[in-house]
Amino acid sequence: MLIRTFATAVALALAGNAGALEIQLPPETATYKPSELPGYQLVQRNCMTCHAAQYASTQPPASPRAYWEATVKKMKKPFGAQFDDADMPAMVDYLVKTYGAERGAAAPAAAVKPAAAAVPAAGGQDVKTLLAANGCMACHALDQKVVGPGFAEVAVRYKGKDGVAAVAANIRSGGAGKWGPVPMPPFSQLSVADAATLAKYVLSR
Ligand code: HEC
Ligand code: HEC
Repeated sequence: MLIRTFATAVALALAGNAGALEIQLPPETATYKPSELPGYQLVQRNCMTCHAAQYASTQPPASPRAYWEATVKKMKKPFGAQFDDADMPAMVDYLVKTYGAERGAAAPAAAVKPAAAAVPAAGGQDVKTLLAANGCMACHALDQKVVGPGFAEVAVRYKGKDGVAAVAANIRSGGAGKWGPVPMPPFSQLSVADAATLAKYVLSR
């Protein structure tokens, strides 16, 4: 069932881009894997502003704790990430248990529960839940550009057109070039209905 949903999502995303050569990343690499470890929230808040989660998910799976410590430190200095030093241990703990050498060592509850719930595949989620679960506001604000365009700016561009379907498709496919060179990761795990809910919200700003 899960697999079929995913295949359908990819098929729809590809159909929407017929002709365009687009690399469709598996959705689980765009956002950090949900977990009950406290570092998950911190990573969502501190690590999505410059690049998506595939930087973490493509690190060698045997990477030990010290490697993640060094990586997180490097994001702060020299790369310029803004977070409290106090956040570091929890983020490192989450990263090594989710993407590194200590995978499987996480509390069992963390591995089982949130995966399906936090990244909703079914329709009917409210906007607030969808924005939070997908980390949209790590890259967007309402009234100003962050990594992506401000939602008010998007609403202005689509004013007077019925843009819901187009914007929903763009949220699911991600990509670059509409606002600048920086790509938005694909959110193809969102159902068409949830993407439309988000698009309506953005366009009503
Ligand atoms: C201020 C921007 C910024 C923030 C915030 C940021 N990174 Fe990075 N990250 C970078 C840059 C720049 C690179 C290097 C990109 C390259 O080499 O192409 C990078 C690369 C990486 C890599 C690839 C391995 C490496 O050493 O190059 C990982 C893993 C990574 N980041 C994880 C994280 C994590 C985890 C966080 C949150 C603690 C984070 N990043 C926050 C800018 C940032
Ligand atoms: C890692 C950063 C990042 C995340 C996370 C992110 N976006 Fe974006 N978003 C961008 C960037 C960058 C662009 C501009 C892409 C372009 O220039 O084509 C963008 C563009 C958009 C647009 C404009 C689409 C259009 O048709 O012009 C909308 C709407 C949008 N994002 C909504 C969302 C929503 C909703 C989420 C959460 C499901 C989200 N974004 C998550 C970075 C992000």
